[in-house]
Amino acid sequence: IIFEDSQTPSKLVAHEISQLIRNKQQKKEFCVLGLATGSSPIKVYEELVRLHKEEGLSFSNVITFNLDEYYPMDKGNIQSYFYFMYEHLFNHVDILPENINIPDGKVSAEDLQQYCIDYERKIKALGGLDFQLLGIGRTGHIGFNEPGSHYNSSTRSITLDHITRVDAAPAFLGVDNVPRKAITMGIGTVMSAKRIVLLAWGNNKAEIIQKTIEGNVTSEVPATYLQNHSNTTFILDEEASKEL
Ligand code: GLP
Repeated sequence: IIFEDSQTPSKLVAHEISQLIRNKQQKKEFCVLGLATGSSPIKVYEELVRLHKEEGLSFSNVITFNLDEYYPMDKGNIQSYFYFMYEHLFNHVDILPENINIPDGKVSAEDLQQYCIDYERKIKALGGLDFQLLGIGRTGHIGFNEPGSHYNSSTRSITLDHITRVDAAPAFLGVDNVPRKAITMGIGTVMSAKRIVLLAWGNNKAEIIQKTIEGNVTSEVPATYLQNHSNTTFILDEEASKEL
């Protein structure tokens, strides 16, 4: 779906999420959300905070799993996805701290593999993700599933693509400061979500959006796997859709 800008669709996505949360509340069920970082979802989080503060939307039945985190990365570091999520959402709503899951960028190298297996298990034990919010990187990554990621991959540590590190460089005051690794949910984890919404805004996403939507499904552009998901919507602004 193509919109003129990112404001209106961000609100619509927030409203879809809020409806899901309320429906689950009525059934006395948890709502399991997969969340993304980056600039793309910021307005969605703004609207969710507004719905909490002004329209009584409660997050008390919400359990969240974030897609990814740099590795190694300290939680207190302002570049961490941990910091981002608290700043943009968790500090402003009534979600229970024990219901927030963000990959831990400080887990020791020897515990990392088991940590990823446990993260994945925790999602499965809850019956999977009800809703997954996504952005997209210029390499075609979703989460940090860089080119070469297998369609069946699960939560794991990965090596970041050079383009991804260049794109992250401004936040880290230089590419040399960007971590070389990350922990990410897998393609398989994302694809098992019951509903997926991918957001892309601006000119610099136009080329990868064209490849993702119109290209062949290939591990070289991991976001193309979404073509095989039966309940995914791409929400774009005019600039991001101009190569379609
Ligand atoms: C990072 C994140 C992705 C995100 C991408 C795009 O690489 N790991 O999950 O989708 O950035 O970020 P932005 O939304 O700022 O363009």
